[in-house]
Amino acid sequence: MNLLSVTAEIFPLVKTGGLADVAGSLPKALKSHGIRTRTLVPGYPSVTETLDEAMPIARYDCLFGESATLLAARAAGLELFVLDAPGFFHRSGGPYTDKNGLDYPDNWKRFAAFSFVASQIAGGFVQHWRPDIIHAHDWHAALSLVYLKYASDVQIPRVLTVHNIAFQGQFPAPVFSELGLPDEAYAVDGLEYYGDLGYLKGGLQAADAITVVSPTYAREIMSPTFGMGLEGVMNARHDDVVGIVNGIDVDVWDPSADPHIEHPYSASEPLRRLANREALLELFGLPQTRGPVFASVNRLTWQKGMDLLAAVVDEVVAMDGRLIVHGHGDAEIEHAFLDAARHFPHHIAVRLGYEEPLAHKIQAGADAMLVPSRFEPCGLTQLYALRYGCVPIVARTGGLSETIIDANVAALQAQAATGIQFSPVDTDGLRLALRRAFNLYRHRRVWEGLQRQGMKTDCSWQRSAARYAELYGNITSTDMRLAG
Ligand code: ADP
Ligand code: GLC
Repeated sequence: MNLLSVTAEIFPLVKTGGLADVAGSLPKALKSHGIRTRTLVPGYPSVTETLDEAMPIARYDCLFGESATLLAARAAGLELFVLDAPGFFHRSGGPYTDKNGLDYPDNWKRFAAFSFVASQIAGGFVQHWRPDIIHAHDWHAALSLVYLKYASDVQIPRVLTVHNIAFQGQFPAPVFSELGLPDEAYAVDGLEYYGDLGYLKGGLQAADAITVVSPTYAREIMSPTFGMGLEGVMNARHDDVVGIVNGIDVDVWDPSADPHIEHPYSASEPLRRLANREALLELFGLPQTRGPVFASVNRLTWQKGMDLLAAVVDEVVAMDGRLIVHGHGDAEIEHAFLDAARHFPHHIAVRLGYEEPLAHKIQAGADAMLVPSRFEPCGLTQLYALRYGCVPIVARTGGLSETIIDANVAALQAQAATGIQFSPVDTDGLRLALRRAFNLYRHRRVWEGLQRQGMKTDCSWQRSAARYAELYGNITSTDMRLAG
């Protein structure tokens, strides 16, 4: 089976978050199910610079106003199509925002162009390679399914994955006339969204199957609290929604063979891990301690509850623990952490930015990873933490609630616990979670049990890739039945 995956990010070429990790690692896992994936990605500089073999397969003189070349290429073991459109993608900011963090004003056009090309490939535009199914990720790619829905001559099963319903690709209605879609597409069962255009909304209406990155989040977004305006559509599509938890690339995240860490270790040599802990404290200029070393590698945003963490740092100080924060995001939260580090230089250290190697070092050296998200579709950070023996402390929401087993009495007795869950997700809840962690940490054998159990957890793609393969199988056979 040939699969066309369509995504705005893919690890290791371009990444702002977990979407890239998923898009980069799922194809490998699908191979053993006989599924050959080619992924269409935008030609950002970090992508076009790293292609191993790049062959032009189509040229556009005027693709939504820009010239562009579609390349077939390979990089980092991935089989790719790259839309090389410098006017759209060679910019000095990030994939979606400029240097000041503001959305590019023409995002509607950039991702319409990208999605339009995806729909062409899905329709058989590329010689000698025709996909059996198209799988689009998030709003940036969602419009490809809308183009296909209204292309009467193309029958290909369409899958959409929701990684985060907070990002919807909402644009003013007048943009519609520029998209090259028939008038009927501007309707409640199409792109129309509260009088505007909703790319994700259109994709949800056009998909044959919708996957959400955890079963809990799939349920949550059917309610107004989490659905962010799309709960009605999610409910209407209820029968076609399936929650599949993300896996991780266990080769990229392997503490026994991680080039980014100084002292590789495995579950059977927990003491070797201590050397990484020492190195980490040193790297961040913090004194060594017998107290717990908490960490956070995260986008510093409201979604991630990082304002909550900034508000309870005194709790860490009181237990003579350490807190290491690495991330970037909202200016206010960044300042709150910088202030905290200034006030408590022996306890708190912050490095603003986004550094992949540092994320590995922190997972390998910290005792506990804090993930206090207000909502979390799946979350990968807590999965990496499990694998690295860094005990996750997570909010009880979305994918966090179903990937971490709380250290309650029953779970501890059954030796099943892997971390701490807390709710309500507010400062009181987080304070209590930190105190629980402190108490567990003092009981070395219990804490080591949590680490061991976490490291034993299977976070690989094995089970979830099988579920995607099953879904693709079902949907292609249904499609063939309908066509026949
Ligand atoms: P999200 O995609 O919502 O940000 P996930 O937990 O799914 O959340 O994925 C986050 C990914 O981004 C992980 O791979 C994590 O290691 C990485 N990450 C987050 N912040 C940073 C940072 N400051 N530096 C390096 N990697 C980071
Ligand atoms: C989104 C979500 C995160 C998820 C990731 C990959 O960024 O916020 O929870 O793990 O996508 O699916």
